[in-house]
Amino acid sequence: MSSISLTRHLIEAQRQGQLTPDLQLLLEVVARACKRISVAVGKGALGGVLGEAGQGDSINVQGEAQKKLDVISNDILLEANAWGGHLAACASEEMEHSQPIPDGFPRGNYLLVFDPLDGSSNIDINASVGTIFSVLRCPDGVTAAGDADFLQPGHTQVAAGYCLYGPSTMLVLTIGHGTHAFTLDREQGSFVLTKADLRIPQETREFAVNMSNQRHWEPPMQAYVDDLLAGKDGPRGKDFNMRWVAAMVGDVHRILTRGGIFIYPWDGKDPGKPGKLRLMYEANPMAMLVEQAGGAATTGRARILDLQPTSLHERVPVFLGSKDEVEAATRYHLQHDGAHA
Ligand code: AHG
Ligand code: MN
Ligand code: MN
Repeated sequence: MSSISLTRHLIEAQRQGQLTPDLQLLLEVVARACKRISVAVGKGALGGVLGEAGQGDSINVQGEAQKKLDVISNDILLEANAWGGHLAACASEEMEHSQPIPDGFPRGNYLLVFDPLDGSSNIDINASVGTIFSVLRCPDGVTAAGDADFLQPGHTQVAAGYCLYGPSTMLVLTIGHGTHAFTLDREQGSFVLTKADLRIPQETREFAVNMSNQRHWEPPMQAYVDDLLAGKDGPRGKDFNMRWVAAMVGDVHRILTRGGIFIYPWDGKDPGKPGKLRLMYEANPMAMLVEQAGGAATTGRARILDLQPTSLHERVPVFLGSKDEVEAATRYHLQHDGAHA
């Protein structure tokens, strides 16, 4: 059978009433932008794209140093999405506020929010990075969309996905009817469906967490990981392996492929921060992809997709992956809260 391109996959989904022509256009535009980012990432030192943006003094709204590729990827996504007429506004990790579609272009009914380059600390070491995106509906009657219009719970997302720039470039996408993986055919220049309907194994023996923060975790997180590390002889009765890509896209991709649990918990290093990862363009889209593949995603206490966002760059603790394992980790937190209520 001939291969199924992203375009064909989306057209067939449209015939089944799963998405509108505007949403199809939006997803194709995002995929095209990701191809351009993939080319830029792939050039590495030859493209002059490594290192810090500006004179090394460019700081984004998160207070984090911007890399050249953070800025390049953000510009590619903004430019690609400006003229199609499918969007009302864009928001990004790299911009303090959302940006309405520029004057002179028609405005559409969707909102796009993205992490243009996830795992930026991997850029200069030639390791995997990615792009994460989430699509929301622009609320009815809004003619000039602003930050407040983006603050919708994750279960209202109409689409979510990421593009992984690894040894191969892969787009993983959901429009609420399963999670599907496409691989970029570099000769043809098109994304080809390589795994329909990904399913995350319900159980796992693999966890992903930055262990260097261990001493800053709260007690139920400490207890949970102590029990994982105790292995066969501990209360969990099995040995666990550990992996950490340092790019959420890479860790989530491994979990969608072979199971596991990814954790970025709250920690006390900077007690004002409720977590490291951002709800709108990291936790929510990944939670939708994972749930659509039969997994689970919580803050350790509550379902991520049910959270009511309060600001564009809000941070949350994240526990996601194999259902049984996420439920186990969540139980440690809820039982601890119950015992200390
Ligand atoms: P970003 O590069 O978009 O700021 O995101 C980096 C995030 C996430 O991708 C990854 O899981 C995590 O930061 C890595 O954190 P550590 O530096 O603690 O390993
Ligand atoms: Mn990120
Ligand atoms: Mn980023």
